[in-house]
Amino acid sequence: MVKIDAMSPNSLSEAACAILQTADPAAKAAAGTELAAAWRRGDIATVGTAHPPIRPARPSRPELRRPGDMPRRGTSGTRGRIALLHAVAHIELNAIDLAWDLIARFAHDDLPRAFYDEWVSVAADEGRHFTLLAARLAELGTTYGDLPAHDGLWQAAVDTADDLTARLAVVPMLLEARGLDVTPAMVGKLLRGGDQKSSEILQLILDEEISHVAIGCRWFEWSCQRLDLEPVDHWRALIAKSFASVLKPPFNEMARNRAGMAAKYYQPLDAPG
Ligand SMILES: [Fe+2]
Ligand SMILES: [Fe+2]
Repeated sequence: MVKIDAMSPNSLSEAACAILQTADPAAKAAAGTELAAAWRRGDIATVGTAHPPIRPARPSRPELRRPGDMPRRGTSGTRGRIALLHAVAHIELNAIDLAWDLIARFAHDDLPRAFYDEWVSVAADEGRHFTLLAARLAELGTTYGDLPAHDGLWQAAVDTADDLTARLAVVPMLLEARGLDVTPAMVGKLLRGGDQKSSEILQLILDEEISHVAIGCRWFEWSCQRLDLEPVDHWRALIAKSFASVLKPPFNEMARNRAGMAAKYYQPLDAPG
């Protein structure tokens, strides 16, 4: 467990680094909840500066494999549901670290207090998402770590470590927005399988992820304005570099609209309207 009050000096970015360096997932999530509460109470005086690790600490399990080496996920029955929930739990564990990494890595970037307030709240959400999924896996007789997980998720953070606009374009506006597209089908599959409880967890995650995409869009556009860049053109240029393959229809336009993500970002250039 990260002891917030034992840190000296008591800065948000140093505490975020301590969370990144926490390997145990439950301890990482709990430390994030504690840090978010401390930040909201005003117990932490400054954002400070810090040197986040290139990669966050990870538990010894799950075994991490390259995306191409993952076993085919079962599609039905309890095993299929467990595989799905385990995969989402792995994404949420990465999401905890992505939020704290954003805070620590861009702490030197002269950003307003509201930037840190909003991403601290995103980090706390991601911790809750992981904790809900880990508890549900336990109810189904398994544990996060029991299945292999893929190791490709952190690469987006490495690739965008030196550019705030690139980080915001890729993590919330591409990857988390992709989550909005694919989660309704997962909710439907769980419901059809009779697993109301798991479906409710994924629905709650979907609703909260809309706000994460919204926060990402707002700070991306704020950053572009600060740099005198046209946001849509800049976003398309950043994505075209190495992430174009992730941007594929069908898009959950209703959820993206609710997040304030204009279709002109993601629709093909030759699309009507
Ligand atoms: Fe999440
Ligand atoms: Fe998120």
